[in-house]
Amino acid sequence: MKLKMMYSFLSTDLAIIEKELEETVQAEHPLLRQAGVELLQAGGKRLRPVFVLLAGKFGDYDIDKIKNVAVALEIIHMASLVHDDVIDDAELRRGRQTIKSKYDNKVAMYTGDFLFARALELMTKLQDAKAHKLLSHTMVELCIGEIEQIKDKYDFDQNLRTYLRRIKRKTALLIAVSCQLGAIAANVSEDIQKKLYLFGYYVGMSFQITDDILDFTATEEQLGKPAGSDLLQGNITLPVLIAIRDSQLREQIVGVSSHSSVTDIKPIIELVKSSNAIDKSFELSNLYLQKAFDILDDVPNNKTKTAFHNIARFIGKRKF
Ligand code: FPP
Ligand code: MG
Repeated sequence: MKLKMMYSFLSTDLAIIEKELEETVQAEHPLLRQAGVELLQAGGKRLRPVFVLLAGKFGDYDIDKIKNVAVALEIIHMASLVHDDVIDDAELRRGRQTIKSKYDNKVAMYTGDFLFARALELMTKLQDAKAHKLLSHTMVELCIGEIEQIKDKYDFDQNLRTYLRRIKRKTALLIAVSCQLGAIAANVSEDIQKKLYLFGYYVGMSFQITDDILDFTATEEQLGKPAGSDLLQGNITLPVLIAIRDSQLREQIVGVSSHSSVTDIKPIIELVKSSNAIDKSFELSNLYLQKAFDILDDVPNNKTKTAFHNIARFIGKRKF
């Protein structure tokens, strides 16, 4: 089944979200507006808005209220990627030139800043102190995650916990909070709110681990950026951490440094791919997925629960 088919009952509301996204990126400054529009056109799975809306379906769902949260979360995600591409000096994202590459770092920084501010402006429409506290805390964690990622570059001695904490901060928390904020906007009970948050967290962990595996196994065409980018940038992910447990592999892999070129990295990528690290990484991704499924056993039965179930399964099995 295609991802979109899993939540086709949201299609009218997702069209509203898309329109609101377009309005949100509008700016008087032509370059700012153009950058925002191009970002939207690059597409994306709109996973965070989908999670917000689905979580809202467990309560008093009102699209006019919940749309602000859904749009804000997608915009925060987009803005963080614009900034991330500056930090990572990335040329391509989703098969297109990044803002920093098409324009320059300055434009990327103020486009990201502008989008962050717009997202916060939208969130003020939700008058709920707990929601704001949750979101601001998540944004702080996102920033810490990014800083930790820079600090841990090329550090082959980092342990699994360091990696898991990093992906929690940079990915899982925002998905968890998407679920919880959707639930808050729809007055869902605290108990179910917490379960939806945890569901998002586990799915987010699984999603990022799969992402890190695909960076090794998928093609440039599938990824929309060169394969092996993580290792080339010094971002040590799960497949590498597992591969270097083998002393022979370790010897060859730990030589990777900021001076390594694409040509140096290619055989290393192959080494990781042909080791058991990919299977082992999938095992951990599936473990998180199983935890997400277990949570769903404890939430009320409705078509949203089925959609959540299918999306989680899709995320675990996705090929790119
Ligand atoms: C992508 O990671 C990066 C993120 C998911 C988060 C980036 C966060 C920031 C730049 C801080 C955000 C600031 C505020 C104010 C919230 P990646 O480089 O591993 O993935 P990629 O391959 O998609 O680039
Ligand atoms: Mg990046």
